[in-house]
Amino acid sequence: MCISVSDLQGIPETTLIPLYHRAIEAKKPQPLLNDPHAVRIVDQIDYDFSQFRFGKAALAHPIRAKICDRRIGLFLNEHSRACVVSLGAGLDTQYERMKPGEEVLWLDLDVPAIEPLWKKFFQETKKRKFIATSVFEEDWLEKIPQDREVIFIAMGLLMYFTEAEVFALLQKLHTSVPGSQIIFDTVSYWVSLHSQLMSRLPNFCQPRYVLPDMKWGINLTTIPTYFNQQTPYQILYLEDYLKNYQEAWGWEGTLMRFTRLDRYLQGAVVQLQL
Ligand SMILES: C[S@@+](CC[C@H](N)C(=O)[O-])C[C@H]1O[C@@H](n2cnc3c(N)ncnc32)[C@H](O)[C@@H]1O
Repeated sequence: MCISVSDLQGIPETTLIPLYHRAIEAKKPQPLLNDPHAVRIVDQIDYDFSQFRFGKAALAHPIRAKICDRRIGLFLNEHSRACVVSLGAGLDTQYERMKPGEEVLWLDLDVPAIEPLWKKFFQETKKRKFIATSVFEEDWLEKIPQDREVIFIAMGLLMYFTEAEVFALLQKLHTSVPGSQIIFDTVSYWVSLHSQLMSRLPNFCQPRYVLPDMKWGINLTTIPTYFNQQTPYQILYLEDYLKNYQEAWGWEGTLMRFTRLDRYLQGAVVQLQL
């Protein structure tokens, strides 16, 4: 069966990138992340995945998923009735990887373009629901139960928004669900700038696939001061992609660390108390 994703364009199309990279990793003999559902989905999609030429950087996607799974697992160990809200969930297979307990409520939210694919690849149940709307709409927050601990996930999402939009979103989550937490990933300022330069190159100079502009970038070493000084939110956890995965990155990782280039290139996963 070959499922078409030709309706996906712009940021919604980017969901195919981490999906593909998790599937590639999962097929290795000793994968960093077990993700059979990513393999299952990629195998069914009719799409030229070979246009994604990320090289070693592709590792960032299974790694960020692994960090996020671990942090969500810890949260669910403490809060067995929690509500997990995955913003910009796309075709993430995190629910399938984590198999959360019976009492957990899991909400996957993404723009309406993703909804037909959810229906093809996943199953909506009483404890796993889909919300087809933009995070910038208002009414979806009413679907979050008041009597549960809430954690938001925003993997591969916030970098596509401006800093002002990111701040407004965090503020909205904080006001609507006080005491909740959010876990998200960041790209560095340089990676953000690079994406904006690539999209402005004339067509004949561009690679086959050009990422949408990543408007918000922040360098690794500035993250703690930035959140402490610019926001009222407390950092609960911060992990860069190199820290626990040096072996997987090989000589490229060693080079990044020794030259301190990791400060300018490395992405991170951040968990905040809102
Ligand atoms: C890079 S993908 C990440 C998918 C998934 N979180 C993962 O890590 O595999 C970005 C996702 O954000 C979604 N997205 C973009 N703008 C959005 C918005 N305003 N509201 C909700 N989702 C949005 C896209 O449709 C896409 O699925």
